[in-house]
Amino acid sequence: MSPLLAFIGGVVLAALAAPLVRRALRWRLRNRVDGGSDSRRAATISEVLQLAVQGSPMGIAVMNQDGRVLLSNARAHDMSLVYDRTVQSEVWETAQEVFEDQETHVLDLDLPIRATGSRIRNVRVVVKPLTLTENTYVIAYGTDESENVRMEHARRDFVANVSHELKTPVGGMALLAEALLEDPGDPEMVDYFGTKVLKEAHRMGDMITDLISLSKLQGAEALPEMAPVRLDDVIDDAITRNHVTAEGRNIDLIRGEPTGITVMGDQSLLTSAVSNLIANAINYSPDGQPVSITQQVRASGTQKVALVRVTDRGIGIALEDQKRVFERFYRVDKARSRSTGGTGLGLAIVKHVAQNHGGTIRVWSRPGTGSTFTLELPM
Ligand SMILES: Nc1ncnc2c1ncn2[C@@H]1O[C@H](COP(=O)(O)OP(=O)(O)O)[C@@H](O)[C@H]1O
Ligand SMILES: [Mg+2]
Repeated sequence: MSPLLAFIGGVVLAALAAPLVRRALRWRLRNRVDGGSDSRRAATISEVLQLAVQGSPMGIAVMNQDGRVLLSNARAHDMSLVYDRTVQSEVWETAQEVFEDQETHVLDLDLPIRATGSRIRNVRVVVKPLTLTENTYVIAYGTDESENVRMEHARRDFVANVSHELKTPVGGMALLAEALLEDPGDPEMVDYFGTKVLKEAHRMGDMITDLISLSKLQGAEALPEMAPVRLDDVIDDAITRNHVTAEGRNIDLIRGEPTGITVMGDQSLLTSAVSNLIANAINYSPDGQPVSITQQVRASGTQKVALVRVTDRGIGIALEDQKRVFERFYRVDKARSRSTGGTGLGLAIVKHVAQNHGGTIRVWSRPGTGSTFTLELPM
């Protein structure tokens, strides 16, 4: 073969082989990258697990037989299950039982209020073997039960309060009826005791009505459809409801000029809220002192809000009582509330009406000077 032919043959072969070689190289390269992503995926899974444990709303802690914590998340620290790689004493006692019997144990922790600022007071901890095959590690899962425990306490308090509050008028009615029966022939006595029985019966009726409204507001029933409501109408109706009591006490109910303000809401709920505020303003004022009801629109951030204010020049509320008056059955002066026919539920109802409308209720008050209750409603 002449050198020229050999040269030409070589060029042709090289030209044919080049794509093959390039393809082979690309194939090797791709395999290497795939292999690389395999190991990277493994790293990612352990990272994902790590993140899942760390971000869990459950407290998680794994410990060995010496009580050393091998893995824990921030939540376990918040819940005081773990402190500085050692496990909380009650959890550790339970863990030792688990090491012994290889069963799942459940423990309820009541935590003291600590200086760490954690708001968690009650934790349910499930302690179990990490695996069923070996007895080297125990895992503890903690869930925050504070809100459930708080609600359960509130519910129990409420039932106890309601029973007590309803028993008082019933007891009163029984005694009065007995007195009435002792001398049914005396018309003066019948009138005297009869009037009192009636008053107690009305008080009890009012309380039951208020309890029903409160339970509806607290979510036993869906809120009625919201519709545009004119605050002028709400205030007019609320004033009408309190007209007779105010007149009897020589109290002027002074309302500001009509404004035409409308809010989205439920007219009868809003009326009952404003009516409760006016009733209180009358009940906790001396005779002859006026009560005023005004409305106003104010910008709150980018939104506009409507304010309804009820102001009295009555006995006022001390600072320490101001936060508590919105609680169910809280009264500053039990005897006064009773003598005015109060149920202790009025402001709790107002608070829930405000909340259900996305609004708020605030109080400003000074003993001896008077009080202003401000109902704020989004427009
Ligand atoms: N305008 C007011 N001035 C002074 N005290 C008030 C006023 N409104 C409410 N309070 C206090 O708040 C308590 C709770 O009010 P409320 O829930 O309406 O119950 P009630 O009026 O039936 O006692 C009242 O018992 C009273 O001590
Ligand atoms: Mg009241």
